[in-house]
Amino acid sequence: MKTLFNGKIMEKEEVKISFEDRGYHFGDGLYEAVRIYAGKMFMFTEHFERLVRGAAKIHLALPFTKEELLIMLEELITASEVGNGLVYFQISRGIVSPRQHLIPEKGSVEPVYLAYTLPFERPEAIQKNGQRATVIPDRRWLHCDIKSLSLMGNLLSLDEAVKKDYEDALLERDGVITEASASNAWFVIDGIIYTHPDGQLILPGITKQHLLHLAKENDLLVIEEAVKVSQLGDIDECFVTNSIYEIVPIVSIDNRLIGNGTPGPITEHLLKLYLESTVML
Ligand SMILES: Cc1ncc(COP(=O)(O)O)c(C=O)c1O
Repeated sequence: MKTLFNGKIMEKEEVKISFEDRGYHFGDGLYEAVRIYAGKMFMFTEHFERLVRGAAKIHLALPFTKEELLIMLEELITASEVGNGLVYFQISRGIVSPRQHLIPEKGSVEPVYLAYTLPFERPEAIQKNGQRATVIPDRRWLHCDIKSLSLMGNLLSLDEAVKKDYEDALLERDGVITEASASNAWFVIDGIIYTHPDGQLILPGITKQHLLHLAKENDLLVIEEAVKVSQLGDIDECFVTNSIYEIVPIVSIDNRLIGNGTPGPITEHLLKLYLESTVML
């Protein structure tokens, strides 16, 4: 497997990461997962911009410009010969020895970054049949807008859902659904599409951003407003979005069918628009 490690393309066996790396000790770093269609990254600029915003929030100086990272990742994609798939990228604050909690002065430590690609085909069966979700308390921290390496809260919520025999977790904080364990959550009620507004309680998804744009272009009404758990009995459709799985319908929540238990028409319409847009860009 080819990897990009601190600016160089190498085999994964050649990568050496120190146990004193703050990514290893603390999860002190950021990541991005960018979809690749036909050998090209989808919405790279938007992913980079989110990385820049995250870096500012955690006081990390990125050691490359957008153009430099773009060139390196394109080189990696070419070397990996990936057609459809994803590129996983992460950057940690770097090595600090001995281990200390205090965040070192910006620029005093060399960040460590790594990327690799994974071939991946569209999960057509999941997109067609949907998934079953359960509502779980959102026990994460209050910086969910930062795409932090530390995903413990997300991992535990998915783990809890799967142990209860569901496929995903919808997260509840203060009586409303924030998002899902690894995606943004959307609901349709009386023909209007709802999704939680950006802010500290959710990750501002790149897929969400793109879908908001597609909905507007196609005269579909979206309101960025949280849906209450008490409203879940009234929803007509539900789906979740992320860069890798694109749009996944949710067909039941806590074993209560949504509509007739199959993906709804607005979800299917948005999926069609989304898939078309990935070919045109
Ligand atoms: C918690 C969470 N919310 C939302 C998303 C969707 O983000 P994007 O559309 O940028 O992939 C993700 C993606 O990993 C996520 O982990």
